[in-house]
Amino acid sequence: MALAVTSSSSTAISGSSFSRSGASSESKALQICSIRLSDRTHLSQRRYSLKPLNVESHSRNESWVSRASTLIAPEVEEKGGEVEDFEQLAKKLEDASPLEIMDKALERFGDEIAIAFSGAEDVALIEYARLTGKPFRVFSLDTGRLNPETYRLFDAVEKQYGIRIEYMFPDAVEVQALVRNKGLFSFYEDGHQECCRVRKVRPLRRALKGLKAWITGQRKDQSPGTRSEIPIVQVDPVFEGLDGGVGSLVKWNPLANVEGSDVWNFLRTMDVPVNALHAQGYVSIGCEPCTRPVLPGQHEREGRWWWEDAKAKECGLHKGNIKEEDGAADSKPAAVQEIFESNNVVALSRGGVENLMKLENRKEAWLVVLYAPWCPFCQAMEASYIELAEKLAGKGVKVAKFRADGEQKEFAKQELQLGSFPTILLFPKSAPRAIKYPSEHRDVDSLMTFVNLLR
Ligand code: ADX
Ligand code: SF4
Repeated sequence: MALAVTSSSSTAISGSSFSRSGASSESKALQICSIRLSDRTHLSQRRYSLKPLNVESHSRNESWVSRASTLIAPEVEEKGGEVEDFEQLAKKLEDASPLEIMDKALERFGDEIAIAFSGAEDVALIEYARLTGKPFRVFSLDTGRLNPETYRLFDAVEKQYGIRIEYMFPDAVEVQALVRNKGLFSFYEDGHQECCRVRKVRPLRRALKGLKAWITGQRKDQSPGTRSEIPIVQVDPVFEGLDGGVGSLVKWNPLANVEGSDVWNFLRTMDVPVNALHAQGYVSIGCEPCTRPVLPGQHEREGRWWWEDAKAKECGLHKGNIKEEDGAADSKPAAVQEIFESNNVVALSRGGVENLMKLENRKEAWLVVLYAPWCPFCQAMEASYIELAEKLAGKGVKVAKFRADGEQKEFAKQELQLGSFPTILLFPKSAPRAIKYPSEHRDVDSLMTFVNLLR
């Protein structure tokens, strides 16, 4: 029986990632690191003799483990085997200074934590780290589209602090495919999400896979819409860390409660190098084509992706800030990028799914994800799902997707066990009823085990 299939683009962008499994502990330590000049003597030899940690293997081994929207922050095991409750810790640190918070973070995670430095006023994080007197590491996502002034600042910071920033670059094949297919400025036409995913989010995901914690410069006052509730410290709600799985990464936001003006007072007092763009009216700084100065009285966020709806102004680095509100399920942002686009992923129509449900003996098993393209948790598992589909191609299991928001939602809830997005179903070869994937672990290995055990 033929299944009805909706069109599925063939412009699958193949990604790649650093494969953690092959890395020695030494190379792990170098994956994302800034190296103090004083440490360089003994590190330099390693730097030349080892493959740098963020060199990418071309087998896709990225696995996003996203949380369900209702997930309660799990606790993370401390080195001594004790479990640490980061929600509690966040409450305790609510009135702590950024310096105290930074000190605590560096003390707790040592060389398994790194500062995410954007090249803007979050240089304050580096100054605070220096003031703790502890060693620290810094990484930056070089999207290839930053302003010259930002590159100059990176250089000035390296020199001032005697560190090496370890840059994370986007996958060349992915950027090439995006630019060849859609041109250099596609984000003005169909939104910034796709370009940000390739140039920022995937490199960030790779970086974080080598860490147990990261430090960001997010502040509550940066974006009243999405950042007003960020905690000082939290179990990362979106990304996974070195140990893999939900709860394997901790996110510190030492500046969460600090106002922008106070960050500036601090930078001026401490005579810290700053991005020359600030003197030209820029406040929040991202990539050159997507950032512009703001006028007095305008909110800093208005200078970012100004052609888009304010709600869409999280590029994916801090996706966990976006809440799935009641009713949000059906209100899509203006430009929603389709996801799970691959030749190996069949896009099923309603008729196609209904046929699949009716069959008692299928020629092959089918794995189907019920998704909504705007859902950050679906986006988070996109890379793993596409990689899984590649691995299962020609192996007797068809991999498919069914868009189950909007008018299909009721049907999916009634007939397909849809609870929240994403829901993953396996239709085994000979069992009539679909089996729902029960776990939050949506990495390739976990999904593959599920398929192999039940197909
Ligand atoms: S964004 O998500 O809109 O781009 P924003 O510019 O507000 O983020 O920065 C918030 C924090 O995210 C920064 O302080 C920094 O910790 C991290 N961040 C943003 N851009 C980068 C980047 N290019 N490299 C590393 N970290 C970044
Ligand atoms: Fe691309 Fe703009 Fe996002 Fe930079 S900010 S990655 S140029 S869409």
